[in-house]
Amino acid sequence: MLTYQTPLDLVRDRLPEKPVACVRPDRVALAADWFQENFPGEVLYAVKANASNWALDAIHAAGLRWFDVASENEIELIASRFPAATMAFMHPVKSRRAIERAYFQYGVRIFALDCEAELAKIVAATNGAKDLTLIVRLAVSNSEAGLPIAGKFGATRDDAPALLQSARRYADELGVSFHVGSQCMSPSAFRDAMNLASSIILDAAVTVDIVDVGGGFPSAYPGMTPPDLKHYIDVIEECFEEMPVLENADLWCEPGRALVAESTSILAKVELAKDGALYINDGSYGNLFDATHCKWPFPIKAHRAAGAFEGEEKEFKLFGPTCDAIDTLEGPWLLPADINEGDYVEIGMIGAYGVAMATRFNGFGETDTIVVKDAPWSSMYAEVEKPETNVVPFPKKRRIRGGQRRGW
Ligand SMILES: Cc1ncc(COP(=O)(O)O)c(C=O)c1O
Repeated sequence: MLTYQTPLDLVRDRLPEKPVACVRPDRVALAADWFQENFPGEVLYAVKANASNWALDAIHAAGLRWFDVASENEIELIASRFPAATMAFMHPVKSRRAIERAYFQYGVRIFALDCEAELAKIVAATNGAKDLTLIVRLAVSNSEAGLPIAGKFGATRDDAPALLQSARRYADELGVSFHVGSQCMSPSAFRDAMNLASSIILDAAVTVDIVDVGGGFPSAYPGMTPPDLKHYIDVIEECFEEMPVLENADLWCEPGRALVAESTSILAKVELAKDGALYINDGSYGNLFDATHCKWPFPIKAHRAAGAFEGEEKEFKLFGPTCDAIDTLEGPWLLPADINEGDYVEIGMIGAYGVAMATRFNGFGETDTIVVKDAPWSSMYAEVEKPETNVVPFPKKRRIRGGQRRGW
């Protein structure tokens, strides 16, 4: 991959015609290091957030070996790139073929479910396998999430105890999981979810081997600064100690956004300036879905290949390249008043659910990728001294089967 010090250097050198993902693999490595050092359990990268090879490689090189996968394609991708990786098939609804291939062809043993029908499907598609790790996904509040994803998956408070009992009959290891919603702005959401999980486990009176607190760990967007990530870990650790699970139960998390968000900015060319709007060559159907959909204050700056911008800044609306009116980033986006055709905008903090969401609608969506060396707009992670040698993965707790239950 081409490397430039900054996106502006690329603009000056090449006047790129296509949108460009300006990526900072060192920021992904830093985030992966942080999670492995601070999370007291297993860290699974949620591949959906950004499945680019450079991001996966940075995560793997940082020592992370567990991946949360949601589809056959994600399984194939991880298996081919990292044959020794552990994959957890965490989509609560899977096709029989996907389960069968995951189990028999790719050695996947960890499956999520949120209802009896999915449990039956997993048991049948694996020929009644005896070595399954079954993770029951619970429905929890998403009220603290910048991007709630509730209402689609998760066993309800009423149904979950019976489902846990059913799953226990088929599980070599049994876990509970939940998702507090993406960009969770308060650690209290994890506390509430873990307390709910505890009361469900007590009702079910089953032995639980794994607690998976899911994703939802936030990134720092301008004007949307979450508490320090350490607070989230402290709350999770404290609540985990109180849960009615095996004394030596494992704790997992599945961060997506928090590992990759700050790594990438998207450089898009201005094709036309008209009536207070800029028509750019990337948009909602391309790498800017999250920026459109979430309406968060994604940071932006303007770049001009030759000469400087002059005068005041003013508010613009951005239009993406496709013919659909949805392809609009309302903003308002504050940019130099004289920005015009042939200039560029760089939208930052879009490493999660950016490139990963791009379509080819209308023939657009082709994106180049370069590595840049400048700092991201903001960061959840303090710079840490990296050792010269390979990073040694965080030592995992070894769980001994048949341990004592606690908190009963
Ligand atoms: C099961 C599961 N785990 C983890 C994640 C990652 O979430 P986030 O990017 O908010 O950390 C998602 C995202 O939708 C998910 O569905």
